[in-house]
Amino acid sequence: MSNIEQKPFQIGDIVMDNRVVLAPMAGVCNSAFRLTVKEFGAGLVYAEMISDKALNIRNQKTMDMLYIDERENPMTLQIFGGDKENLVEAAKFVDKHTTADIIDINMGCPVNKIIKCEAGAKWLLDPNKIYEMVSVVVDAVDKPVSVKMRIGWDDEHVFAVENALAAERAGVSAIAMHGRTRAQMYEGKANWDVLAEVKKHISVPFIGNGDVETPQDAKRMLDHTGVDAVMIGRAALGNPWMMYQTVRYLETGELLPEPSLREKMDVCLLHFERLKALKGEKVAVREMRSHASWYLKGLRGNGKIRNAINTAETEVELRSVINGVVVEYEANGKLLEEV
Ligand SMILES: Cc1cc2nc3c(=O)[nH]c(=O)nc-3n(C[C@H](O)[C@H](O)[C@H](O)COP(=O)(O)O)c2cc1C
Repeated sequence: MSNIEQKPFQIGDIVMDNRVVLAPMAGVCNSAFRLTVKEFGAGLVYAEMISDKALNIRNQKTMDMLYIDERENPMTLQIFGGDKENLVEAAKFVDKHTTADIIDINMGCPVNKIIKCEAGAKWLLDPNKIYEMVSVVVDAVDKPVSVKMRIGWDDEHVFAVENALAAERAGVSAIAMHGRTRAQMYEGKANWDVLAEVKKHISVPFIGNGDVETPQDAKRMLDHTGVDAVMIGRAALGNPWMMYQTVRYLETGELLPEPSLREKMDVCLLHFERLKALKGEKVAVREMRSHASWYLKGLRGNGKIRNAINTAETEVELRSVINGVVVEYEANGKLLEEV
């Protein structure tokens, strides 16, 4: 019934279990979150972007970002940069010294700081640069290389097909594309028509991205664009079970129910445990503040709880708020209602 039953989704020699992919998200997609999303069924997970220069000077925080739990594989590490030398050096390091399956190059980041370094979405204005930069990376490493790009720079510069073809000619093993321009940032709607057009022109696996908020959206994207896989970003925040819901929906058309509040909070705390193992209690509690509010999203009364979470400084305080939420609502005989 859906593309999921067609040929397997494969990048280089890496065969994925399904066509549902976690998007790279800076500040979010560390090993703790990726593993949690993976356990909830994602076929492939992307790591947050890593600066080539920071990696090349062995900046400790950046080196820590290379940590991969073996249960995450297959997984993709993403690097960004603006000059050939640094990009190639970083790619070689990832190739030789990490257990990532795939090396991805970021060509979509829209923020000024990155654009000023000639990195991220800046490349979208010049297919020749894409070819030049990507081909040297592909030649320098053994792992498969992929790129993640936006459809264009702005409405006047949508070189989606040319850019994808340049990456393909340069030897990438897959392309992911977010259906927005750089100028759009995260505003407006992702243009899936452009994704459909690109798909007609390339033969490497093509991953569609942008505005997949529900399992039904994933099916609509696959049907509308013919992409080989769907990449989910914001909808997975505080919502890792979205992955198995989507996989199941694509396979059978069945919409699985939302987990109970207790189940959600158990996942939230498991995510916290992993973050703590990765970054220590203090940082983990702080980073969990935004995750916890995502886990509570859509639940009535979450403002009050969010405030309590935002002032938590220790594990004991965080756990006490989260356990308190479950106890309070279970005692009332009902879960928090949808707003
Ligand atoms: C908080 C956040 C961080 C992001 N960081 C990255 C990144 O590091 N690399 C990247 O290629 N895209 C990044 N993106 C873009 C996402 O991968 C994705 O393309 C975008 O969110 C659209 O997909 P969605 O509609 O499913 O969220 C980020 C997006 C968000 C919301």
